[in-house]
Amino acid sequence: MKIFLDTAVIDEIKKGLETGLIDGVTTNPTLVSQAKVDFKAAIAQIASLANAPAEWAVSAEVTALDCAGMINEGIELAAIAPSVVIKVPLTVEGLKACKALSGKKIKTNATLVFSPNQAILAAKAGATYVSPFVGRLDDVGQNGMQLISDIKAIYDNYGYSTKIIVASIRSPQHVVQSGLAGAHVVTIPPKIFSQMFSHPLTDIGVKKFMEDWAAFKK
Ligand code: G3P
Repeated sequence: MKIFLDTAVIDEIKKGLETGLIDGVTTNPTLVSQAKVDFKAAIAQIASLANAPAEWAVSAEVTALDCAGMINEGIELAAIAPSVVIKVPLTVEGLKACKALSGKKIKTNATLVFSPNQAILAAKAGATYVSPFVGRLDDVGQNGMQLISDIKAIYDNYGYSTKIIVASIRSPQHVVQSGLAGAHVVTIPPKIFSQMFSHPLTDIGVKKFMEDWAAFKK
């Protein structure tokens, strides 16, 4: 399973990279506005961070609403670095742009996906990645993780190569469920990445080992 960080905060990404366990980054207009960074400069900086793995993937989202505008933005953003992946919304215009960008060998991520039908269309448009938002579905009383299992089953039925990025993750349990469903990628807020390391029995165990070792060495 690949782990992406869902943030535009450079220091958080650097900290994640220090673990050697982070495979990519996803951003969106909300995250960029929260980080208060210059969008294109931030994408360039994230794309060129030291310690990034060879297959580093950095999603940058278009803000145009029409196909031509999205294609232009996508081409411009993709020129920043080979690791840049163009995020397009799952709209008719977005998928037209996705198909055109895919045809130019530009990597794409169809985002704001809330149904299996949308995911089928993203795969047919040649999206490199599809991003179903599980937390936002849970928020409105639907089962976000069921969507992941459904998309995985459909993609497997047809051998689609589009990779599933589980997005809008709200808890470490969503990560576990993503793994059980066979999702290719989880994109998680840095706080949830930290929570994945934690278990009280690990802390208690380390403390006890250190106490016993110190007593033995005396
Ligand atoms: O990657 C998409 C993600 O950022 C959306 O998360 O918490 O705004 O639903 P959230």
